[in-house]
Amino acid sequence: MADIDKLVAEMTPEEKASLTAGRDMWSTNGVPRLGIPPVRVTDGPNGARGTAMGSAGPRSVCVPCGSALGATWDPDLLGRIGELLGREARRKSARVLLAPTVNIHRSPLAGRNFECYSEDPHLSGRLAAAFVRGAQSQGVATTVKHLVANDAEFERHTISSVVDERALREIYLLPFEMAVRDGGALGVMTSYNRLNGRYNTRRRDLLQGILRDEWGFEGFVLTDWYGAADTEESARAGLDLEMPGPGRAFGPALAAAVAAGRVDPADLDGAARRLLSVFDRLGALDDAGDGPEEAIDDPADRALAREAATGAAVLLANDGLLPLDPAGTGSVALIGPHAVRPRAMGGGSSAVRPHHRANLLESLGAALGTGVHLVHEPGCGIDRGVPTLKAEVLRTPGGDAGMELEVFAGPDLTGPAVHREVAGETKFFSIGSPAAGVPDEGFSLRAIARYRPEHGGPHRFSLLQAGRARLTVGGRVVIDGFADPPPRGDAFFGLGSQEVDAAVDLAAGTEVEIVVEYSAEGAPAVHAWTIGCARPLPADLMERAEAVAAAADVAVVVVGNDDDWETEGQDRTSLDLPGRQDELVERVAAANPNTVVVVNAGAPVALPWADRVRAVLWCWFGGQELDGALADVLVGKSDPAGRLPFTLPLRLEHNPSYGNFPGENGEVRYGEGVLVGYRWYEARDLPVAHPFGHGLSYSTFSIGAPRLSSPTADAGHTLIVDVPVTNTGDRRGAEVVQLYVRPLDARAFRPPQELKAFRKVWVDPGQTVTASLELDGRAWARWDPGQPWLADAGAGWRVDPGRYLLAVGRSSADIAHEVVVEVAGE
Ligand code: BGC
Repeated sequence: MADIDKLVAEMTPEEKASLTAGRDMWSTNGVPRLGIPPVRVTDGPNGARGTAMGSAGPRSVCVPCGSALGATWDPDLLGRIGELLGREARRKSARVLLAPTVNIHRSPLAGRNFECYSEDPHLSGRLAAAFVRGAQSQGVATTVKHLVANDAEFERHTISSVVDERALREIYLLPFEMAVRDGGALGVMTSYNRLNGRYNTRRRDLLQGILRDEWGFEGFVLTDWYGAADTEESARAGLDLEMPGPGRAFGPALAAAVAAGRVDPADLDGAARRLLSVFDRLGALDDAGDGPEEAIDDPADRALAREAATGAAVLLANDGLLPLDPAGTGSVALIGPHAVRPRAMGGGSSAVRPHHRANLLESLGAALGTGVHLVHEPGCGIDRGVPTLKAEVLRTPGGDAGMELEVFAGPDLTGPAVHREVAGETKFFSIGSPAAGVPDEGFSLRAIARYRPEHGGPHRFSLLQAGRARLTVGGRVVIDGFADPPPRGDAFFGLGSQEVDAAVDLAAGTEVEIVVEYSAEGAPAVHAWTIGCARPLPADLMERAEAVAAAADVAVVVVGNDDDWETEGQDRTSLDLPGRQDELVERVAAANPNTVVVVNAGAPVALPWADRVRAVLWCWFGGQELDGALADVLVGKSDPAGRLPFTLPLRLEHNPSYGNFPGENGEVRYGEGVLVGYRWYEARDLPVAHPFGHGLSYSTFSIGAPRLSSPTADAGHTLIVDVPVTNTGDRRGAEVVQLYVRPLDARAFRPPQELKAFRKVWVDPGQTVTASLELDGRAWARWDPGQPWLADAGAGWRVDPGRYLLAVGRSSADIAHEVVVEVAGE
C-alpha cells in the first residue's frame, strides 16, 4: 500500500487538480512525475465494453439487462455476475466499472428501467450489494449510479426531481445505501438531474452528509458524463472526479479556483486523497493504466450468462402447453419481428458488442431436434422513428461492409486526405482527434458507401449530428445541416442535434451512393454523427405469419421492445407493444389454439391478449445467451426461475407516477411519496395484471409454516425466519420465498406491506429445504423526517413499538403464512 498522505503532500496543486478530471473519454489523468498512472473506466451494468462505442471495438460478454437480473431474485448469482464483469473490466484494462444502475422503476415508461433492477428498493439493494462485492473482488471499483432520483429520461440533464425526504430515504436512496454499507462500493456516480432544485454534484448534504458521514462511504464520487454542474460548490460538496476529460469544471479550473481562494485547498486534497486511496486499494497505482483490450470468449462465461438468463425467465401464465414436448410436436411456427434475433440489450451507454449474437431459430431448432419442423415469419416491424442504418447492408467502394472514411485536416473537406479507414458502422464519434495525424479540432471528413435496396419504395433517412453534417443519397443532398443546422437535442450526451429526416424513393435492386460530409468546425465537446434509415417492408407480413401459424402444431410468438424503444435518452409514452404486435398475437392466436407468447422487453408492457393464449413467458433483454436460455426454458431443460421485479399494471393510468410523469416546467413531482410499485397498487386496492414477485415454476411447491428465532424483536437484533419449502411436483425447480412486513400498530402512514427479506431455493421433487430469511432492525423502521419546529424531534430511522405481521409467500399477492411479532421500540 502506498503512503497516500505523503503522495498527496508531494503533489503540486495543479497535479492534484489534474487527478480530478478525466484525461479523455474513458480514463483519468496520471501524474508521470510521481509514477501515478492513468486509470481506465468502462461501462457498465450488463457488460464491460471497453473504450470503443457503438459496434466497433473488441467484443465483451453481455449478461442479461438490469431488470432481468432483478428478476433472478438471486444475490448469489448476482455475486457471480459481478465477478464476471469485474474480470471483464480487467480484460479491458479498466479498474473502474460504471455499474450497477440502481435507480428505481418509478414509472413503467422510464427509458432506462431495463438497466435498473426493480421497483422495490430492498430487492435492488440486496442484488446491488452482491454485484458490487463480486465485481470488486476482481480489483475493480464499482460506481453505483445514478445518485439519486434519476428515474426517467425526460429533460434528463436539467429536470428537478421533487421528492420528499421520507420517500428519498425509504425508496430512492436505500439501494445506494445497501450497495455502500453492505456491498462496500468504492465509487458512486452522481446523476444528471437536479434533486429538489439543486444538482446533486453540488449537494454537500448528500455527498458528505449522507454518503460519507452517515453511511461511512470511503470511495470516490464521479459525475455522470458531462454532468459536472460547477467548480466551487461541487468541490465543497465532495465531488472528486469530473468525467469525461478534458476537464471543464474540475482539473485546471479547480486548480485556478484554489489559487484564487474560491475553493479551500483542503477540499482539493480530500478529492486527490480519496481517488488515490481507492486506486491504491485496487492495486491500480502499480498498473500501466493503458493496457490492451482483450476480447475473451470463455465457455464458462457463456454458461454463466445462460444460467442468468434462465434464472431470470418469468413464466407469467401456463395452462400446461409449456414446456413443449418435442416428441409430441410435429411443427412449430416461430413468429415475431425479433423472433430470430431476440434483443439481448437495451439502448444507450450500457450497450456492448457481444461475443455471441442470439439466434433463436437455431437454438430452438437444436432444442426441439430434427423431428420438429420449424418455420419463421416476422409478422410486422417495430421501428421507432428511424432506426440506425445497418452497416451490413452497405458496401464501401472497395467492396467491404460498412463505409469508407476520408478525413481532412481542415474544416472544408479540401486538400489531401490525412487519414482513411473502413468503418464497420454508420456512425462516427470522437472527442478530439479521431486518428493519428488529424488535428483535435476543425477537421472534416467524408464517409461513402453504396446501398442496393432489397425492397423498393419510400426509404426514410435521418441524420443526427454534433458539428455540421449533410447527407447525400444518390447524388442529391437530402439533409443539409451545413446550410440549415438543426436545433440541439438529446443525442451524444445532450451535445448533439435533434434528428432530421427525409423520405427518398428507391428502386429495388438499383444501387445508390450514400455520402455523409462532416465538419468539426464549431462542434461542441464531441464530434459525431449517425445515419438512420427506415427501409420499406413487404405488405403481406401479417398474412404470412397467420398462414404459418395455422399450419403448425404450436405457434411461439416473440413480441416486445427493442433498444430504440427501451433506451437511455428517451422514455416511452405508452405501455402498448410497438407496431402491430398486439394484432399479430391476436391473429396468430385465432389461427392456432396452441400459442405461446414470449415477451422480449425490459420494462412493463400491456398484454391485452393474455387470456387468449396458452402461456406467457417473459424473457427480458436476456443477454448474449438469451437464445439458448430461451430454448432451454421452452423445452423444459431449465425451470423458468425468475419472478417479476415489478408490478405488471393493468392500465397505465393506475401506475403511481401517473399525472406526475414525465414532468413539466422543469420538474417531476414524486407525488406518490413512498407508495411506489406494489406499495401503491395495494394501498389503493387496484387490480393488476400480475403482482410484484409473481412467476410460475414447471414444478409445484408447498411453503410450510415459518419458524422464528424469537417471538419478539427489536431494532438491535436480527430475527431469523426459517421457512420449509417442499417440492410437490415431479421435476427440480426454483421457488422464491418472499417475506413482506405489515405494521399493525403504525404511528405514521405506512405502505400496507413491504418486502424485507427473500430467498431463492432450488428443490428436487419430494425434497424439503429450509429457506432462511433474516430481518434486521431496518425491517421495522420508517424514516422520520422530524419536525423542525419541535426542538427535540430530529430526523432519523424510527422503529415504532407494536405488532408487525410477517407475510410469507410466493408473490406480494400470494401469501401462504402470516405470523405476528411484537417489536420493541427504540
Ligand atoms: C450514462 C452513464 C454512463 C455514462 C458513460 C451516461 O450517459 O448516464 O450511465 O456510465 O454515460 O457512458
